[in-house]
Amino acid sequence: MSEKATLEINGKKYEFPLVRGTENEVAIDIKTLRSSTGGVITIDPGYKNTGSCESAITFLDGEKGILRYRGYSIEDLADKADFLEVAYLLIFGDLPTQEQLDKFHSDIKENSVVDDDVKKILDAFPKSAHPMGVLSSLTAALTAFNPSSVDVSSEQDMYNSIVRIMGKFPVLVSWAMRKKHGLPLEYGDDNLGYVENVLRMMFKNPNREYEQNPILINALDKLLILHADHEQNCSTSTVRITGSSHAGLFVSLASGISALWGPLHGGANQAVLEMLEAIKEDGGDTKKYMAKAKDKNDPFRLMGFGHRVYKNFDPRARIIKKAADEVLGDLGVEDPILDIAKGLEKEALEDPYFVDRKLYPNVDFYSGIIYRAMGIPVEMFTVMFALGRLPGWIAQWREMRLRKEPIGRPRQLYIGETYRPFKAIAQR
Ligand code: ACO
Repeated sequence: MSEKATLEINGKKYEFPLVRGTENEVAIDIKTLRSSTGGVITIDPGYKNTGSCESAITFLDGEKGILRYRGYSIEDLADKADFLEVAYLLIFGDLPTQEQLDKFHSDIKENSVVDDDVKKILDAFPKSAHPMGVLSSLTAALTAFNPSSVDVSSEQDMYNSIVRIMGKFPVLVSWAMRKKHGLPLEYGDDNLGYVENVLRMMFKNPNREYEQNPILINALDKLLILHADHEQNCSTSTVRITGSSHAGLFVSLASGISALWGPLHGGANQAVLEMLEAIKEDGGDTKKYMAKAKDKNDPFRLMGFGHRVYKNFDPRARIIKKAADEVLGDLGVEDPILDIAKGLEKEALEDPYFVDRKLYPNVDFYSGIIYRAMGIPVEMFTVMFALGRLPGWIAQWREMRLRKEPIGRPRQLYIGETYRPFKAIAQR
């Protein structure tokens, strides 16, 4: 017998089916709520209880600290896979064979040249522009240079758009950084792996060849994998909802980049480093900042702490903390803010304010420390997050289109004025 939930409104009962996911999560299917009840809707600010879709891409259990892409644990993927394999897995559903991976990579390389005219748009930005704003604008602008990417009526059309953006996005990432630093704009080198190419495009000095460092390649691979998807978070929901109007992939991604920029989401990695830096400048007094974070009259929050879904620990934070130790050790970098971060974490994990609210370090608490050790400027941290999240956004957009999901259009509860007769300006 199928499972049901019963809702009683003013003495009248309504039944709604329960649906179960493959991990036994339960949801009440309220598709007929409004029509069967004569207009009743649900209200759920921040969508804390609302499933916006069914998805087969990423599973996470915030209570148990589990994160899996297409069934594979984040720990295994971070340890054993490379970023391009993970991108393929997320987008197409299975780990690729060598042949599939080679074809994917060669199609990406084939499409990785960005129209030289895009440089003119970049030129018009001031050097002071935040690279996230630049990246979002240029990603949207790519639509104008690739108009056929919008109208995707077949899986092949989708594939063509996907390999185009997978190829061109790292170029835009590197240009956003090089512009800020007054460096000539680079194109990629087809002889390199995906992540090696990103590093070369970002860091190649015009006066000399770029020497690859396996420590940096491995560190970036791992960071990108850890950021690659996280089910229906703020930016991913934005990508899905923009794409649900059948706007093209590139502009859907541009809206996701804008959503990611905020300090409560991806912008937290920059905010964490700035916070740790400020604590160091202020004499390293972590207790003072712990007190500020707990003071309800102080807007300060411990950046990199807390998560909407993880209420036990963020499995990505564990991997990143270990990686931070390893990468700094391998590179021979001693960074006092790593000690400040560890000190803050220790204090917070013992403090009833954080314990009671189940606030743990999230993915961004340690990622900035690694980025900094790699020589990546602080304003690029959220851009690096976007580069990692790209395959996740693409996978979610593709799933939404293949499932022919309806346009996203929430309801509201109106709480404004009721009807008022118009008042002529002299009577107001
Ligand atoms: N420092 C101090 N107190 C906090 C923090 C924090 N970082 N995070 C949450 N709290 C407190 C809140 O003040 C609230 O306390 P109250 O119950 O006494 O009012 C309680 O914990 C619950 O917090 P909410 O804001 O309601 O939790 P929500 O799920 O809406 O927000 C969020 C989650 C946005 C991540 C929040 O924890 C936060 O602002 N963290 C800092 C920013 C950050 O690191 N963002 C990155 C998230 S990971 C990512 O997007 C990749």
